Amino acid sequence: MSVIFSSRGLRVPAPRPPERGAFISFEGGDGAGKSTQIAMLREHLVTERSVAEDLVLTTREPGGTALGAKLRNLLLHGEDVDARAEALLYAADRAHHMSTLVRPHLARGGLVLGDRFLDSSVAYQGAGRELERHEIASLSLWAVEGLLPHRTILLDLPSEALKQRRDPAQLDRLEQAGLEFHESVRKEFLELAAAEPERFAVIDGTQSREEIHAQILEVVAEVLELFDPTFEPQPAPSHRDEL
Ligand code: TYD
Repeated sequence: MSVIFSSRGLRVPAPRPPERGAFISFEGGDGAGKSTQIAMLREHLVTERSVAEDLVLTTREPGGTALGAKLRNLLLHGEDVDARAEALLYAADRAHHMSTLVRPHLARGGLVLGDRFLDSSVAYQGAGRELERHEIASLSLWAVEGLLPHRTILLDLPSEALKQRRDPAQLDRLEQAGLEFHESVRKEFLELAAAEPERFAVIDGTQSREEIHAQILEVVAEVLELFDPTFEPQPAPSHRDEL
């Protein structure tokens, strides 16, 4: 078969949430408070609802695996990367992260709290304007074989509020791109959320940590019902197709 004949496009599996376990992703611009909220949710589940610690996987992109940590370093602290190469590196991190960490945990019936997922690629790489959003989305969906979270929490923070929170000593390459870029990313995220209201919950990131936490508990209640913390976790299936 010739390369030209086979270049008719990536075959992207129909996007769908996992059949076992529960998957919640957290999205938002830099400094929106995702990591704090993920830690608070995890703490709540473990201490107040007695969920076994090993049933809750908190992870992040880029960098959730050993390979991902290397990719993260290249992406955030390396040289300037061409737009296509950048999109492929995020997708590579995601593919490896999903197949080696997230899917096996879901297949055991566990809960995954992900700090960023494919919406970040669409919002950030899409805001760069060099690539079409649908190209980036297809690339990521191909990378994760169509896996989508049950729920995506978008912590929305306007640039003005971000400016007050920012610690100039900790700026990385993407953060230096500035508040204007933050605002375009924010717009992209809000559009994604408006297009998929069943999956997304948009939460005002200017509120106090406690207020945000309380709202997160409300919007994840239904998803948490999919996840039964009292059942015996099963070993991950050995065959890839069962994941
Ligand atoms: P990180 O330090 O994790 O940012 P934050 O703490 O704000 O979440 O850095 C991740 C950076 O990578 C962030 O600026 C967004 C960017 N990014 C993309 O551009 N595309 C992607 O697909 C992902 C996952 C992240």
